Amino acid sequence: MEVKDKVVWITGASSGIGEALAYQVSREGGRVVLSARNEEKLIAMAKDLGDDCLVLPLDMSCWDSFPAAVERVLEKWGRIDILINNAGISQRSLVAETEISVVEKIMITNYVGPAGLTGLVIPHMMEQKGGYCLFVSSVAGKFATPLRSTYAASKMALQGFTDALRAEVYPYGIRVSLIVPGFVKTAISLNALEGKGNKHDKMDPNQEGGISPEKAARIIIRGIVREKREILLGMVPKTRFALFLSRFFPGLLARMMRTARVT
Ligand SMILES: NC(=O)c1ccc[n+]([C@@H]2O[C@H](COP(=O)([O-])OP(=O)(O)OC[C@H]3O[C@@H](n4cnc5c(N)ncnc54)[C@H](OP(=O)(O)O)[C@@H]3O)[C@@H](O)[C@H]2O)c1
Repeated sequence: MEVKDKVVWITGASSGIGEALAYQVSREGGRVVLSARNEEKLIAMAKDLGDDCLVLPLDMSCWDSFPAAVERVLEKWGRIDILINNAGISQRSLVAETEISVVEKIMITNYVGPAGLTGLVIPHMMEQKGGYCLFVSSVAGKFATPLRSTYAASKMALQGFTDALRAEVYPYGIRVSLIVPGFVKTAISLNALEGKGNKHDKMDPNQEGGISPEKAARIIIRGIVREKREILLGMVPKTRFALFLSRFFPGLLARMMRTARVT
């Protein structure tokens, strides 16, 4: 699906991949709905993006506000063509040191919120007889590493949700894709939660060496145009190798994980 003239709703638009996507969609002639909690940042972005842009602050854990948010987009443009569920939060903590409130926050932000919002948008896409839903997962949604138990679980949940949704809505002309980033240079590790709910606040060397959010956005848009089922980006040899092992030699990968040096 081309993004030109489409209404593209991006969650987590205030930073990193979502922010870069918003600028790229706008450059390619799309109309952008910017959602995240940081309203000030979204307003600043809207000044650059001009009229074809709607600032719609949204907290993925406050689903009472979702129906009004959907109505607001429909009121402004009458349709939602593309929904990119990108908002997410990572984790840096051992299971034994992670409070339940942290498990809840990550699951809600990364899985429950996106699943709920999508459930409200899909009926409108059905009525329109077309649309496109995307979910930003992670390589952690393909294989789990230490320190990211709930993060991996939330992204694996997205994989299942995406696969089911894709089959359900195909007859309505709605397409569904999973975006699988490896390493992108964003604030994801700085914003990651430690066991007591505090921010990790450290730049992970993997993200530091990752591709730029702008490059990630270009790859994602190319994937949308080609309607790719899964859009992989920012992979390095070690993640490609681990993906291969997870698929064909999961026992070997499990043994390697016991001694993996994960930051
Ligand atoms: N960077 C990578 O290497 C990498 C790798 C794999 C997967 N990913 C995934 O890529 C997506 C984007 O992350 P990023 O790398 O761009 O990180 P980021 O710079 O930290 O951006 C995360 C975005 O999510 C939003 N967000 C977080 N909690 C939210 C909530 N409760 N409600 C609404 N929005 C919320 C943030 O906005 P506010 O704080 O303003 O709400 C921010 O815009 C995430 O789903 C992440 O898991 C990234």
